[in-house]
Amino acid sequence: MGTFLIVDGDADFSADICQFFGSIGHSLYRAADFQGALLELSARAYDLVVSNVRLPGGGAIDLSRAMRKAGRDAELIVYADIDSAPEGLRAVKEGAFCLLQKPFSLPELNFQARRALLDRGSRRSASPGMERLEGEAAYRPYNFIGESEEIRKVFKIVNRVARTNVSTLLLGETGTGKELVAGAIHYNSLRSGGPFIRVNCAALPEQLLESELFGHEKGAFTGADRMREGRFERADGGTIFLDEVADMSLMTQAKVLRVLQEKSFERLGSSEPVKTDVRVISATNRDLTERMREGQFREDLFYRLNGVTIRLPPLRAREGDLALLVQFFLKKATLEMGKAICGIEPGAMDMLLRYRWPGNIRELENVIERAVVMAEGEIVTAEDLDLLFAGSELPAAGQVSLPPGGVALADAERQLIEQALERCGWVQKKAAELLGVSERVLSYKIKNLEAEGGLRRPGSR
Ligand SMILES: Nc1ncnc2c1ncn2[C@@H]1O[C@H](COP(=O)(O)OP(=O)(O)O)[C@@H](O)[C@H]1O
Ligand SMILES: [Mg+2]
Repeated sequence: MGTFLIVDGDADFSADICQFFGSIGHSLYRAADFQGALLELSARAYDLVVSNVRLPGGGAIDLSRAMRKAGRDAELIVYADIDSAPEGLRAVKEGAFCLLQKPFSLPELNFQARRALLDRGSRRSASPGMERLEGEAAYRPYNFIGESEEIRKVFKIVNRVARTNVSTLLLGETGTGKELVAGAIHYNSLRSGGPFIRVNCAALPEQLLESELFGHEKGAFTGADRMREGRFERADGGTIFLDEVADMSLMTQAKVLRVLQEKSFERLGSSEPVKTDVRVISATNRDLTERMREGQFREDLFYRLNGVTIRLPPLRAREGDLALLVQFFLKKATLEMGKAICGIEPGAMDMLLRYRWPGNIRELENVIERAVVMAEGEIVTAEDLDLLFAGSELPAAGQVSLPPGGVALADAERQLIEQALERCGWVQKKAAELLGVSERVLSYKIKNLEAEGGLRRPGSR
């Protein structure tokens, strides 16, 4: 059982929370303002602090900072009303475990408290005595929404891989959470006390990327007016995340390969080797096999990067997750914008379910954000979404529409079969149900299509 501190200027409110947690066996202490909270925190070791974001004499943000500065590793849960929600979010960015919106129920608070304590326990055992790092909050496991079988498989591998040092390659369409997974691996690994350094290999031209990666000496090239450390150097003792790795030039690939083989490199314009100890996580939404076949990606580098592959399924293949994600992003957007929106109309949900989500979770997040901006009432309606989806190919409910230019029937069949298989994680039995045919008929069709070389399996070789 834990030792909790409840902080609120409203004594009745904190008394209720205390009574509740006390009745399930925790030890409770109370403070009525910011100074009081600081005093309490210096008096004993707490496991959890639950605080109003607004306090007499300060706020939860100050509290979070003070706790971190004093090396207190208690978890902080904050709560806010609509007015103070933006401060609450800032507190979360400063390291608070989560934000609850008033009014909340005591079981809801208890649920979050249990998660906070679990999270704290696992962090302690992963990195005893390690200070919490900036940015970590964004990659906490509770940010990972999803209960589908597909995503559970991903969680399982992430957990296993995190505890090792193996190079990990993340594959998946854009917006499927590759960066989130990279962060989750790092912050749950033995290196979580070290830096997590991200490089987007597609964003920069060759020379700039190389100077980003390896650093340069003063005068190495025009414009290099002082020495600069590269990201491989800064990632020493931690993890480097090579995002969009397929977009590196062959030259840069050769240099990255050398770092991985020799664990040392030279800054541009220098012949002095620099040692570095990094774990590499890389990601791409491209087909690396294809890139290798075209001679655009080095095979030896591929094998170095690909100790373990994690495939992030597209959103449309995660059965049941869409609704959870919608709720999550609705809550997030309403808090950020201070709007009181409590849900989504069934018709609107249906539209979201029918859409293909080529931009995956990132796209969903954007759509929900915009819908919250648009919404006039307390719930998001189909009309709010209509405007957003205007012009995109959203199939009507229960109807397949013939494109204006006609269609190749065989091709349409192939695509529908692919989509059904994809949605069911390639479980033929389920796909057959979706298509209204027997498993035997589907299996026969698949064989024919494969013989024609015609089935597209995403991310497959
Ligand atoms: N399972 C998830 N639960 C909640 N948010 C998610 C999830 N997966 C991705 N996101 C969010 O979607 C956005 C895109 O994710 P990101 O990791 O950048 O995707 P990728 O790197 O694959 O393009 C980010 O804002 C991320 O936080
Ligand atoms: Mg990305």
